[in-house]
Amino acid sequence: MSHDNLRPQPSAGQLTGRTAVVTGAKQGLGLAIAERFAREGATVVMSDVVDAGAEAAELGAHFVAADVSDEEQVKALIAHTAATFGGPDVLVNNAGIEFAKTILDTTVDEWDRLMSVNLRGVFLCCKHTVPAMTARGGGVIVNIASELGLVGDAGVAAYCASKGGVIQLTKATAIDHAKAGIRVNALCPGPISTQLLEEVFQASDDPEGMRATFEERTLLGRLGRPDEVASAALFLASDQSSNMTGANLVLDGGWTAR
Ligand SMILES: NC(=O)c1ccc[n+]([C@@H]2O[C@H](COP(=O)([O-])OP(=O)(O)OC[C@H]3O[C@@H](n4cnc5c(N)ncnc54)[C@H](O)[C@@H]3O)[C@@H](O)[C@H]2O)c1
Repeated sequence: MSHDNLRPQPSAGQLTGRTAVVTGAKQGLGLAIAERFAREGATVVMSDVVDAGAEAAELGAHFVAADVSDEEQVKALIAHTAATFGGPDVLVNNAGIEFAKTILDTTVDEWDRLMSVNLRGVFLCCKHTVPAMTARGGGVIVNIASELGLVGDAGVAAYCASKGGVIQLTKATAIDHAKAGIRVNALCPGPISTQLLEEVFQASDDPEGMRATFEERTLLGRLGRPDEVASAALFLASDQSSNMTGANLVLDGGWTAR
């Protein structure tokens, strides 16, 4: 009788053997997601418009520069990933920007720039990743939307519009590519303590007052942490969520419950 099955097996990570591309990975949520995925055994390609070579090296990951709003750069990112590491098996569309303005104060250039990163960027990355995933028999896409894609808020009109678009793009893409074995879900974080949110606070007349207001608007009375978003992204990227597609996972401390 063999006792092989009684021997302790080396524990495989939840993403072992998979190649994951994470956009906007130099800092904030993207960096936390890249770190968690690397710890779970994935070959992680960290992409950003800013050089994140040092951050990638620290995680044992790989850095490929790309501006998600530029089609040629996105094509090159996915082609390089496929040729060098295989995949991608997982794509996390995380790169995003925010500014706090009403539509009256938003210039057409500012509107176009925000949409080109937050919405066109997700479109381009999906468009050039889906064929590779289809050829491999499937894959997983996680789009980082926002609670501000579900509800509105004062003074962030363009951002709300872009994130609402990401949620709808997620559903439509999930419908179109389910038969190819591709799952597409959106993750809607509430306010999370990162540089993006800090810059929104600092641009206001009363940064500390605004921070306190944001904390109070959650049911949990605090900002979320990047590692909490990374846990949710891992759930969506892994087989743990194998029956989920076209859905939103809301992780907002209760912001949208009222
Ligand atoms: N922090 C929050 O409270 C919060 C809440 C909900 C959703 N989000 C979303 O999560 C994502 C990450 O946010 P964060 O708080 O970590 O932001 P962040 O500003 O800390 O990091 C964003 C990263 O994206 C990169 N980036 C910007 N433009 C890019 C482009 N054109 N191409 C490639 N990379 C680009 C930046 O260089 C940066 O490294 C964004 O999509 C954001 O809208 C954040």
